Amino acid sequence: MDKISKTLSRRVTDDKICLYHEGDCVQNAIKYLSNSCIDLLITDPPYGINGHELHKHYNRDESFVIDGYVEIPEEEYEAFSLNWIREAKRVLRPGGSMYIVSGWTHLRHVLNAIEQSDLDVVNHIIWKYNFGVYTRNKYVTSHYHILYLVKSGAPPTFNMFSRFSPSQKTAENRSLLYADVEDVWIIDREYKNGQIRHKNELPKELLIKMIQYSSDEGDVIADFFAGSFSTAKIAKGLNRSSVSFEISQEACDYQVQQVKAIEWGELLDTVRKGEDDRPKNQYQPWSEAEFDQLAIRFGELRNEGLTKRGAIDRLCGDWGRGYFSILNALKKRGL
Ligand SMILES: C[S@@+](CC[C@H](N)C(=O)[O-])C[C@H]1O[C@@H](n2cnc3c(N)ncnc32)[C@H](O)[C@@H]1O
Repeated sequence: MDKISKTLSRRVTDDKICLYHEGDCVQNAIKYLSNSCIDLLITDPPYGINGHELHKHYNRDESFVIDGYVEIPEEEYEAFSLNWIREAKRVLRPGGSMYIVSGWTHLRHVLNAIEQSDLDVVNHIIWKYNFGVYTRNKYVTSHYHILYLVKSGAPPTFNMFSRFSPSQKTAENRSLLYADVEDVWIIDREYKNGQIRHKNELPKELLIKMIQYSSDEGDVIADFFAGSFSTAKIAKGLNRSSVSFEISQEACDYQVQQVKAIEWGELLDTVRKGEDDRPKNQYQPWSEAEFDQLAIRFGELRNEGLTKRGAIDRLCGDWGRGYFSILNALKKRGL
């Protein structure tokens, strides 16, 4: 990981890069990032809720947490959000994606800034996590908001089959892919008892998911509020370039060494992989002759002793069609 020292433009992204700069993200983006040089931006800004002091309310042991988390005063949050989101939009390429993690306290400022920056909100994801605190007279906070946005002007990267294939099912015959692309994500935070860590570190599983769906190997991913440099670490592990900004010198000093220790692509063999194995004739119209042939073949398979379910499963493979397509076609011939 190297300190960014000259302006990054799309030209240089043929080589893998892993760059950072300490200091304010808006100033650094203006200085070092040209228009449209970023493919994906994943970021988790400070929440403007005195996050640097929250542990005192929850009696948390912070002795292993790195100093230097910089919070934003509540009264500045609106202008702060508008400034960095406008800058993020400028550096994102047309069709580039952005994930913003936000608490609910200042969500309205984040949403207003998005609207004023003319970015399209594609999904409003709820990330359910485990907070691990107990309350006496209110519900336990256990979710964050993740806004998934796209900059208009080109089709976004969305690798629908990167993690699960359409045919992969649970024991109860539910689609794993469908569950993975629902907009409620249940991902626990990682407990790092006794290990040096950053306040609010995002879980690895969450970052892997966003990066797999919204980028390809070699793409450039930016994080404006790097904290533990978790985005840069996972990006490097998945063979993606990264640019990180973080205002805390302490965080940079420690985390840059951690990123350096990661091998390019070291996570690639450990993550989920899917493929597009949809039936090849899905959505093709049926002819009357095909209905007749299907009914005959179904009768033959039943005579061979297959159950109705077994026969349909066989026909799905042979005819390149989905289960319900075969079922409905058989109904046309009264079967
Ligand atoms: C919620 S934390 C990010 C945590 C990070 N996503 C992780 O997984 O470790 C927000 C970070 O933004 C940093 N920060 C605050 N103001 C900043 C600014 N103007 N520019 C860059 N970083 C800033 C804070 O020091 C803090 O580390």
